[in-house]
Amino acid sequence: MYNAKFVILGILIFVGLFTSPFWAGLLGKNYTETGIVLPKNEKECVENVDFMRNQHMRLLNEWRDEALRNENRVYVASSGKKWTVSLQNTCLKCHENYKEFCDKCHVANSVDTYCWTCHIIPQGSKQ
Ligand code: HEC
Ligand code: HEC
Ligand code: HEC
Repeated sequence: MYNAKFVILGILIFVGLFTSPFWAGLLGKNYTETGIVLPKNEKECVENVDFMRNQHMRLLNEWRDEALRNENRVYVASSGKKWTVSLQNTCLKCHENYKEFCDKCHVANSVDTYCWTCHIIPQGSKQ
């Protein structure tokens, strides 16, 4: 039998190294450094910035599942505020500059989203 302790340690080190560019990217940069463009006329996102930065992908999955499986198109934020569940009409309405916001950060972090084969990116953007 292998020594389980060392195997686990090895896995932890591997995962740490493997994901380090990602953590460095998220922890090391603020948005002036990534150069993303935030909406001019809005102050708040659906949830707070830290949550959005770390969890927006999960939130979007949750939104999709709610809309499609449960036909629920209202999201109640932790603040109690209600938002319409829509990638197009909510997220991208505020974040209208897809290229300078979503895309810029994704490119910097080597993320490729497959959403846009079906969903529409606002004008003037990639693809
Ligand atoms: C194969 C096509 C396809 C792909 C790829 C796809 N979607 Fe969708 N998505 C749909 C369809 C169709 C609906 C239903 C639209 C409706 O009923 O309003 C939907 C609905 C949604 C909704 C809820 C309703 C809305 O209008 O926003 C969200 C959120 C969503 N998708 C997010 C995503 C995200 C994020 C990705 C990428 C990770 C993605 N989708 C990739 C086809 C797709
Ligand atoms: C009402 C306008 C509005 C809507 C709707 C909105 N956002 Fe935001 N979003 C903002 C603003 C303003 C900020 C910056 C907040 C701050 O800096 O305090 C932000 C911040 C963010 C951030 C963090 C950026 C950073 O600084 O690292 C992400 C990621 C994000 N939004 C994604 C989304 C997604 C995904 C959706 C849809 C689920 C969405 N937003 C819906 C206005 C909006
Ligand atoms: C501040 C940086 C940043 C901004 C701004 C940002 N994202 Fe992301 N996004 C990421 C990172 C980093 C990941 C990869 C996270 C992971 O793999 O766990 C990601 C992942 C995603 C995923 C999941 C991709 C997949 O295939 O699993 C979706 C969907 C997504 N982002 C949508 C958006 C949308 C829509 C916007 C703009 C409204 C946006 N993001 C803005 C950093 C950002």
